Amino acid sequence: MFRPLLRSSPRLTALRNHIAPPLVNRYTLFHTMSVPKTMKAVVVEQTGGPEVLQLTTSHPVPTPKAGELLVRNNISGVNFIDTYFRTGLYPAPKPEILGREGAGIVAAIGPETSGFQVGDRVAWMATGGYAEYTAVPAAKSVKIPEGISDEDVMASFLSGLTVLAFVKETYPVQKGDWVLFHAAAGGAGFLAVQILKALGAKVIGTAGGAEKCALVKSLGADVVIDYRSEEGKDWVKHVKEATGGRGVDVVYDSVGQDTWEGSLEAVKRKGTIVWFGNASGPVPPLPLPKLSPKCVKIARPTLFGYIETREEFEYYTNELFNLLKSGQLKTKIHKVYPLEDIAQVHKDLEGRKTMGKPLLRP
Ligand SMILES: NC(=O)c1ccc[n+]([C@@H]2O[C@H](COP(=O)([O-])OP(=O)(O)OC[C@H]3O[C@@H](n4cnc5c(N)ncnc54)[C@H](OP(=O)(O)O)[C@@H]3O)[C@@H](O)[C@H]2O)c1
Repeated sequence: MFRPLLRSSPRLTALRNHIAPPLVNRYTLFHTMSVPKTMKAVVVEQTGGPEVLQLTTSHPVPTPKAGELLVRNNISGVNFIDTYFRTGLYPAPKPEILGREGAGIVAAIGPETSGFQVGDRVAWMATGGYAEYTAVPAAKSVKIPEGISDEDVMASFLSGLTVLAFVKETYPVQKGDWVLFHAAAGGAGFLAVQILKALGAKVIGTAGGAEKCALVKSLGADVVIDYRSEEGKDWVKHVKEATGGRGVDVVYDSVGQDTWEGSLEAVKRKGTIVWFGNASGPVPPLPLPKLSPKCVKIARPTLFGYIETREEFEYYTNELFNLLKSGQLKTKIHKVYPLEDIAQVHKDLEGRKTMGKPLLRP
């Protein structure tokens, strides 16, 4: 502890602090911010409907372990996958704080953790975003560059990395490819249409309702089908017409149960189906011989398989940040909801009421 040797004066105090900052300052500046003991969080004790999303105002703030950062979340993303963990479609231990991504300020740093400082503005991908604070692996956190808002990052982080990985690696989309993308006005879809157009693909987007279809069209999609309308119900026929009877080179299907059979029909001979979600329910077990007549390839990717290493994670986050910074990729926030309204966000997502990405302000 610094012990004053001389009588204090403003000049001496400044000099003293320069040589040896008082402990309290050093702690605040370099090790941790002032962090409360408890916080607001939404905890799911057991699987079920939106009613199991229980807000508590006295959840213990986590302590970052080795390799972790404690982030004070400014904004968190809400993804359809969160509903799968809520219902139990995807198993995860409960009680659980849902939310796979957040953006905010590093409030404290765990032991043996390098590359970050308290006060850094970061985005992270892990679990526990429906809370004021989250302890997250530093390996899955990244500093947000100047000039990009937390909101823009959250509207495109998990969703955008998913799209980038799936169009670059799962099926490397080529200029001139016909691509069918379902739920094209959603969190992932809104970004996908823009990214696919930038790659030179011919894009067919499906969406439910006139407003969503107009949004998809405004992004430059070549063909937009309202698959909930009377006219668009037979969307396979429209896809075939648009592609001269051939079918598309690739289908990106995250709707699942309601679309998978149509997707098999709409894909061309030797085409690919990238099935990556279950918005309408899971696809039933698929008999492999169904793929034979057209020699179809099926992929069932998950983003996390493409960003496992730090190198992969940084590659895709840099790609995304460059697209955002250059203005090539626009984001669309459906609405920023307060943490208290989390059940409503899930209802809106499952009720197909969202366009673009819903965000949560913890
Ligand atoms: N595999 C991965 O790693 C990965 C990563 C990210 C996302 N995903 C998947 O990608 C999909 C999109 O995710 P997102 O967070 O961006 O969600 P989203 O697209 O914003 O929301 C889902 C959309 O699916 C459509 N949908 C069709 N049938 C539906 C039904 N019966 N119930 C509810 N929605 C239905 C709705 O759009 P319309 O009204 O236009 O039909 C709805 O807006 C999800 O299936 C998600 O699980 C997978």
